[in-house]
Amino acid sequence: MASKNKGKIHMRAQWGSNIGFILAAAGSAVGLGNIWKFPGRAYQGGGGAFILIYILIVAFIGAAVLLAELTVGRKTQKNVVGAYKALGHPRWKWVGGMGVLCGYIISCYYIQVGGWVLRYVFSYIFSADAVYADPNGYFSNMLGQNGFPWIGAVVCPLIFISATAVVLLKGISSGIERFSKIVMPALLAILVVLTVRSVTLPGADEGIKYLLTFDWSKLTASTLLSALGQAFYSLSLGMAIMITYGSYLKKEENLVKNTGLICTLDTVIALVAAFMIIPAVFATDVEPGIGGGFAFASLAGVFEKLPVGELFGVLFYLLLLVAALTSEISILEGTTAYVTEQWHWSRKKAIIVLAVSSFVIGIFYTLSQSYLPIKGIWMDITNGVQFPSFGDFMEYVTDRLLMPLGALLFCIFVGWVWKPKHAITEIEQHSVGFRLKKVWTVLIKFVAPAAIFAILVSGLLFGMSLS
Ligand code: PHE
Repeated sequence: MASKNKGKIHMRAQWGSNIGFILAAAGSAVGLGNIWKFPGRAYQGGGGAFILIYILIVAFIGAAVLLAELTVGRKTQKNVVGAYKALGHPRWKWVGGMGVLCGYIISCYYIQVGGWVLRYVFSYIFSADAVYADPNGYFSNMLGQNGFPWIGAVVCPLIFISATAVVLLKGISSGIERFSKIVMPALLAILVVLTVRSVTLPGADEGIKYLLTFDWSKLTASTLLSALGQAFYSLSLGMAIMITYGSYLKKEENLVKNTGLICTLDTVIALVAAFMIIPAVFATDVEPGIGGGFAFASLAGVFEKLPVGELFGVLFYLLLLVAALTSEISILEGTTAYVTEQWHWSRKKAIIVLAVSSFVIGIFYTLSQSYLPIKGIWMDITNGVQFPSFGDFMEYVTDRLLMPLGALLFCIFVGWVWKPKHAITEIEQHSVGFRLKKVWTVLIKFVAPAAIFAILVSGLLFGMSLS
């Protein structure tokens, strides 16, 4: 066993090229959060004011934590739990374990939402009229309002998770990297086409103006916290992911430059998504929003009013599909790396067991939305207080508790236990000096933990109300 294991570590997978890594990491970062959360948040947070604050948060806090995660991964060449052990602090391994758990729970619901997106690709190809006729009804029907939702909860999520598993089974460079290299350029191309369509609609200029106006009165403490939470979620931080992706990096790659590129790509794509959504909803008198109800139901009002709207509908859900697939791949890879290295499972067994189990658990996420037999049980348990559905509860536990707690403890670990100087040695190993090392040290020791602590406390105090 030991020698087999040794052999495995020795031949640990690596990215084939730096650009492949960048596209895979950006694929993880660019997800549903960028496309259906960021634009709505930017709208609620007062347009330009929110955008400016968001950019500053990514540049100073998100980037500092991302660099730390990639560095720990590259230094140890281990999964998130093994990393703490490899750095000589095995007692911290449960922080990694929390990240794995968080990723696993997110995976359960991401598979479902990925399935819904796939369903809508088909809906806009074959039956857009049915969506237009009753957008809310169509959506709740997919979620089981009128009987067991076979397509929305089982068939489409199964196709989605199978595609994820097939890519992962092919491995790091011939699976994840190759896939990202093909689909990420496609994602960018679709995004550009849709954004050009949106900003050239009659009436779109109101939306563009809104995004470029600085309405500071809307920027309250709660929008600030929502920008912080959004930045962490969007960069896939605080979980098993970026440490794992960093662990497949070659020693000669420049971690600082890579961090900058990933943050830039993720943020630019979120901004462009805002310019894709907001002008279009202004032009068609649709109320901007966040999340599933907005992306699946409200947006039908936009597509219905556009000439060849179905075509744009198909493109939009394809865009979401690619964004969701590359994110799901990264979530499952983080967990897979943990299971293969810590439990010594084969990669194939790990992927299949993780994929099947999170698919099965995830079914309840969809069922809890509208399918009465399950929704009713949930309502009995919670009396409808705080968390309207099991799904909201899952999102709360991950976004508001596990992710910030994991990120906070990770910063404390790097800043105070492992110590920034050791991280800096790794960062500077093959690249020219890290000029911002003093700034980074202050960020990782003080600023990032304080900001994350604020997210955590607000989550505990205000529950879902801040989302
Ligand atoms: N970053 C992704 C997004 O913006 C979501 C995600 C979260 C992906 C956690 C992986 C892990 O939607």
